[in-house]
Amino acid sequence: MNKVLISKEIPTKGMELLKAHGLEVVVLDPTVSLAHLNKSNLEGVVGIISMLSDSINEDFLAKAADLKVITNFAVGINNLDISALKKKGILIGNTPEVLTEATAELTIGLLIMSMRNLYSASNSVYNGQWHGFNPLEFLGPTLFRKNVSILGFGRIGKKVGEILYSGFGNTIAVLDRSEKKNDELKNQINYPINIETEDDFLKKCDVLILTAPLTNETEHWLNQSRLGKLKKTVTIVNTGRGNLVHEPALITFLETHEKVRYATDVMGTEPLPIDHPLAKLHNVTMLPHIGSATFEAREEMSLICAKNIIMGLSEKVVFKGPNC
Ligand code: DGY
Repeated sequence: MNKVLISKEIPTKGMELLKAHGLEVVVLDPTVSLAHLNKSNLEGVVGIISMLSDSINEDFLAKAADLKVITNFAVGINNLDISALKKKGILIGNTPEVLTEATAELTIGLLIMSMRNLYSASNSVYNGQWHGFNPLEFLGPTLFRKNVSILGFGRIGKKVGEILYSGFGNTIAVLDRSEKKNDELKNQINYPINIETEDDFLKKCDVLILTAPLTNETEHWLNQSRLGKLKKTVTIVNTGRGNLVHEPALITFLETHEKVRYATDVMGTEPLPIDHPLAKLHNVTMLPHIGSATFEAREEMSLICAKNIIMGLSEKVVFKGPNC
């Protein structure tokens, strides 16, 4: 029987669909990592559902001789070596669209959590530090009517912009690209955006949101020089990937400007070591990569992954993938 390997347990619907199509489903033991499997473990494995934490590279593929289709249980695909997969003729899938709302709402939640000091305020209730209403405690800036710049104006960025514009009266800025691309963008949304030069995009914003995919072009995009152009009161929210930011430069920026806030769902190293400098800064708010963690999104993601494998094996094309 053809085997489908799932690197971490996923919602049952996807697994049931795979089984209903006559595939043997094997879920890796949580203590075992995909990367550590050997050739014989991977024998007969025709499909893999990988997590964004699995590095699928040439070394791994050399062991997976029977692999025909791989699908990431994520929209981001930076953990997959696309050219190595293509060279081997392995089909590639991911889970776009179904997690757009989940990740957008988490982005807004994280933004408010940071601006309004929700983590420390909540903690004070539990750790006995709350001594009653205090007019000067836990103050933060309002989100209403602030200037927001969004790097990565794909599905998630557009949804974040829509919620912020319609709900909070924010102005939304995106980076200037070609005239054609700018026009296309404007046609894809039903709210106004300001198309800015990189300098204005950085200098004018009160909130900078990073929802871009991690690619060679975006890796460490928010570096020392770009950080230097931001307001010294900016709130930066990252629900893209940790390495969109040059973390050492960011840490220095946060250490020297205590009114700057950094709120992130993603880190360069996940899980973040608890002695990491980011974990020591009072102006940092972190979540454990839960952007897509709604019941609805995760169930749909499991179904899309299953469909990617089933269609990949039978029709030689995935249901949803980076090239679809
Ligand atoms: C993804 O699916 O790539 C996102 O990181 C979800 O949070």
